[in-house]
Amino acid sequence: MDNIGLLVTNDPALGEGPLGLVRDCALVAEDGVVSGVVARGAAGDERLDAGGRCVIPGFVDSHTHLVFAGDRADEFAARMAGAEYSAGGIRTTVDATRAASTERLRELAMARRAEALRAGITHLEIKSGYALDVEGERRLCLIAGELTDDVTFLGAHVVPSEYVGREDQYVELVCGPMLEACAPECRWIDVFCERGAFDPDQARAVLVAGRDRGLGLRVHAAQLGVGPGVQLAVELDAASVDHCTYLSDGDVEALAGSDTVATLLPATDFSTRQLYPDARRLLDGGATVALATNCNPGSSYTTSIGFCIALAVREMRMTAEEALQAATLGGAKALRRADLGRLAPGARADVVILDAPSYTHLVYRPGVPLVAATIVAGRVESR
Ligand code: NIG
Repeated sequence: MDNIGLLVTNDPALGEGPLGLVRDCALVAEDGVVSGVVARGAAGDERLDAGGRCVIPGFVDSHTHLVFAGDRADEFAARMAGAEYSAGGIRTTVDATRAASTERLRELAMARRAEALRAGITHLEIKSGYALDVEGERRLCLIAGELTDDVTFLGAHVVPSEYVGREDQYVELVCGPMLEACAPECRWIDVFCERGAFDPDQARAVLVAGRDRGLGLRVHAAQLGVGPGVQLAVELDAASVDHCTYLSDGDVEALAGSDTVATLLPATDFSTRQLYPDARRLLDGGATVALATNCNPGSSYTTSIGFCIALAVREMRMTAEEALQAATLGGAKALRRADLGRLAPGARADVVILDAPSYTHLVYRPGVPLVAATIVAGRVESR
């Protein structure tokens, strides 16, 4: 790609500052992999002209629930009128998802994936979690696997209605037959460790069972209040603990001394009318932070990672540089992917051309669709 006005590499060895900024340059890729950054005017078999604009690594959205049916706009409207968000709303989507055909679920998930590509998301993680029975969860994992190689089994999203009062039996189902059916289709296991979902003992049982089955760990925690989920995630070396809206000083300290990424989901705090987390506290404390959309029908129905970046800067005390890096390299770290999130030799050529001279416009022009082209592994997928 030639005629780049400002390139963000996310590799300080290649350019200026933590973003590794290079001006007036060309990005060279071979077979879908970055091979170098050179001066403007490079020769090549195929040439894409960036028109002097800003070019960034593709966004890595490390937390989504893209496979579901149904709509919860009424629940959202009620919240905007003052109702509280609760984990129980998940069951509404479970009913709609169970009732949908596989073809319909695939069609809906593909449409959301296409929307995310237009937003500049070149890679995403997708969770199951809206079927909560053995065959249904496997069906969601299989559909997710058609769209990404980062599929997460989330049978422990909430206890389904038919198991209310028999929660421990549901946990046994998740750790036994459901995990057995889903694990071959997944890279990760996740659990919602929160009031109204799973307690720390149940969450630990789920995570340990997944780890024993060879899956990497992810945790939803601290969405609705301070709780034990963050410490559990750190103790078990989860790749990421997601939400982190409410953190104790001990949680921040534990995250800073660990390889567990704190993934913040500001569109969720927006859509559930909660406080925003203080990202500054995490960053200054030494934790690694990622930003993700959490696209789902209940708490965050958006694929706009640009919106998340704008919120993070406006409301969470991140700089534009930190927010951009958290939505690219941070997402890659949350997925323990060394091949994504940067534009340096050896990385996958996942690139976004912004219709702007600099990445600051992502915050400066909130709500404006600034993605001019999305390129995945060297191929233009959306423009
Ligand atoms: O990450 N917190 C749990 N899961 C989703 C919410 C899903 C829903 O409300 O349907 C989340 O916010």
